[in-house]
Amino acid sequence: MTWWREAVFYEIYVRSFQDSNDDGIGDLGGIESRLPYLAALGVDALWITPFYPSPQIDFGYDISDHEDVDPQFGSLADFERLIEAAHRQKMKIVIDLVLNHTSDRHPRFVASRASRTSPYRDWYVWRDGRGDGVPPNNWESAFGGPAWSYDETTGQWFYHYFYAEQPDLNWRNPAVEAWMFDTVRFWLGRGVDGFRLDAINTLFEDEALRDNPTLATPRVKLTGVVSQDTTYTRGLPEVHEVLRRLRVMVDREAPGTLLISEAYVDTIDDLVRFYGVEDAPQVQLPFNFFLAQVPVLSAPAVRQVVDDIERRCGSFWPSLVFNNHDIDRACDRYGEGRDREGIARLLAVLLLTLRGSPFIYYGDEIGMRTFPPHDIDDVRDPVGRTFWPQYKGRDGVRRPMAWDRSANAGFTRGVPWLALAPDAHTRNVEAQRGDAESVLTLHRTLLAARRSSAALRRGSHRTLASHEDVFAFARETETETVIVALNCADEERDAGVRLEDAMPRDWSVIVGTHSHVATVTLESLRLRPLEGLVLRHEVRDPRP
Ligand code: NOJ
Repeated sequence: MTWWREAVFYEIYVRSFQDSNDDGIGDLGGIESRLPYLAALGVDALWITPFYPSPQIDFGYDISDHEDVDPQFGSLADFERLIEAAHRQKMKIVIDLVLNHTSDRHPRFVASRASRTSPYRDWYVWRDGRGDGVPPNNWESAFGGPAWSYDETTGQWFYHYFYAEQPDLNWRNPAVEAWMFDTVRFWLGRGVDGFRLDAINTLFEDEALRDNPTLATPRVKLTGVVSQDTTYTRGLPEVHEVLRRLRVMVDREAPGTLLISEAYVDTIDDLVRFYGVEDAPQVQLPFNFFLAQVPVLSAPAVRQVVDDIERRCGSFWPSLVFNNHDIDRACDRYGEGRDREGIARLLAVLLLTLRGSPFIYYGDEIGMRTFPPHDIDDVRDPVGRTFWPQYKGRDGVRRPMAWDRSANAGFTRGVPWLALAPDAHTRNVEAQRGDAESVLTLHRTLLAARRSSAALRRGSHRTLASHEDVFAFARETETETVIVALNCADEERDAGVRLEDAMPRDWSVIVGTHSHVATVTLESLRLRPLEGLVLRHEVRDPRP
């Protein structure tokens, strides 16, 4: 029932993972063909980005039919085959559910915009303007420009938090909830194990349409450029009521189904709200983006966020996220002027040893880098054109997976929909597979270590006193203690890990970013630049 607590998740951006029919676009058949790779890597669950029929303006996050598969990604039969094959390999499948909006080509929106008296009019958010050609208020789209578009046919404006091609559903209309819950039932009927709830924090907007406060200067955030505070368009309390009802429904109809919320929130208290309370739970795993938002990779910064999360999340189980298809890869976010490979390795250790359920983004396991387009004409993600050159969109983290040294890195035999990473011929699975020092081998070893260590999978967390530049913590069960020490500095450091008297002095090294000896003494532990070490001590006879 709580399989997700000990699971390692792997995000697949479906367009970019593996093509199976030579059209240059990744697909479900491609994912199926790579299941043996994923099983050997040692991940437990796959999150697959949207594969439903879609005009692909936002590459699938603009859905025109929620209960089918886009022909470029395969068919429903392919999906059923994939899920069966994954389950045979003991892997769970989590799919993306986009509840906030549909495509503007969705038949319900087409009907909604046809006339003011359409039975579907109230399924979307329609309002009168403030005057001729003036939108109802100042709300801005996350992807730039006004969040309202004028529709000539009926002389009203419709609301879209994202692109104009992604009109928001009106969640104040109960028919919308009933419809979307039926969609959930449809996919539960096909055996999915969970849902990642896209943009869940924007389901509701202020009914009085109050203007959002404008920022003095626009801010470039991880996910784009913003020029206002989303006070009235994001984080309204009503969303938690929907999540509570959704949880009741899935618990009743398919117990054990996992819900993951995607919400960029301002405080850890806002994040904790997504768990709900004991007798009214909401989602089991809200995405925790606070780790990914650590501004610099330094031990004090990481320690502070981890400690805050541990303090505030209490008995709730955290999710662990550094990367996804919307943000630059962490080795590049933190890598300016530093050893990016070293950072990728150190973060792999952190991600896979902290308390919580980790999410690996495809390609992380080979240390893939971010390659934004050089030229505006090469940009595929529309938001990258809107904000060019301040923000170049998300193409840089969506480059095709690099499997081998062949022409298109084994991703496709056709023309890839997005150019390969320029280093794909050297940085790929084939090149790293047999290399004991590779990022891939490090991931495999870390994942194997998790499997063999209850402390890593479900132990408690305790931050340990250590050198200022070293982040050290213990994961503990009754019979096992694991200590993780991460030197976040670019020079050597004495780890300075201080333990209580009762703790053993000698520890066996189970995995590390660098080659290492079999046992170490904590008092004299010295770490190389960006070195991370995972140490273990087992108590054979736990005290009664
Ligand atoms: C969040 C998704 O991760 C992103 O890729 C998408 O553009 C927006 N939601 C809109 O659906």
